[in-house]
Amino acid sequence: MLREKLLELREKALESVHSTNSLKQLQDIHVSYLGKKGPITEVLKGMGKLSEEERPVIGQLANDVRKTIEQQIKVRKEKLERKLLEQQIESEKIDVTLPGRKIRTGSHHLLASVVREVEDLFIGLGFSVAEGPEVEEDYYNFEALNLPKDHPARDMQDSFYITDEILLRTHTSPMQARTLEKHKGKGPVRIICPGKVYRRDNDDATHSHQFMQIEGLYVDKNVRLSDLKGVLTVFARHMFGEDREIRLRPSFFPFTEPSVEMDISCFRCDGHGCSVCKGTGWIEILGAGMVHPNVLRMSGFDPSVYTGFAFGMGPERIAMLKYGIDDIRLFYTNDVRFLKQFKQA
Ligand code: PHE
Repeated sequence: MLREKLLELREKALESVHSTNSLKQLQDIHVSYLGKKGPITEVLKGMGKLSEEERPVIGQLANDVRKTIEQQIKVRKEKLERKLLEQQIESEKIDVTLPGRKIRTGSHHLLASVVREVEDLFIGLGFSVAEGPEVEEDYYNFEALNLPKDHPARDMQDSFYITDEILLRTHTSPMQARTLEKHKGKGPVRIICPGKVYRRDNDDATHSHQFMQIEGLYVDKNVRLSDLKGVLTVFARHMFGEDREIRLRPSFFPFTEPSVEMDISCFRCDGHGCSVCKGTGWIEILGAGMVHPNVLRMSGFDPSVYTGFAFGMGPERIAMLKYGIDDIRLFYTNDVRFLKQFKQA
């Protein structure tokens, strides 16, 4: 009786083991057949009623059945686990031949690139870069530059005043006075100073109330106008091509004497006359001059010992000429299509 029961149990158990595809079910089968309350334990409990001869035989059989089921569960378990792993590997397969996702990087603004290009050139000529405040004192913006309070030339630059004595700087020239002051009467002074400046202007294609300038200042013993001309020639050729010629025209700034305006020969028509140079063959690039003795004196330099030159240029104008940009507002409205157009590697 018990013998048949055991064999039947074995058959049923093995059938369930082999037909299941789930590890969870396999675990359940293990518990229900081999657990403490399972049928095999039950059989073993009833062994007391058996005869002496039968007992070891049935005992042996029960153990064999138990072992067989255990072993088959183990085999099935390994098989199912392997299958699961294979499925997982298959589903997580990576196609290494797919094109990658593009990493989008930012880039320098065109103005920043132009400023950097100018800076690099002048650093190579022995200048260093200095930066000053955009909110400036009237003293540095005007007075120390030989523009006393009632000077008519103040009208050349319509200003944003914050108080009577504080304004948004109208040019980077206050850095001339600030730098000279710092050097306490001793040369050489060689700086290049890029930065934002502000003027009361109505914005249009060629005017902006905020724009940039790069100031240059070189003060030492025996600095001459010919030095200015040499440096500006190097600059013009570096920025606009090796064939450029420059010319200096007389001009006026209260803080330089003599004052000049520098033109370059047109890079488009090589001086023959075209729409870029408006038929003249020349393009105006910047203002410059020899530092006025009053400026040197007010900032602690002895004009009988020291001389110097200064210049101021507009990076927007340089970029507009170089890249054929026809509206200054494009620099400040930050349309990504414009910015991307001048993305540098
Ligand atoms: N600061 C002058 C301007 O804004 C330019 C300039 C700088 C001229 C240095 C001479 C010397 O127009």
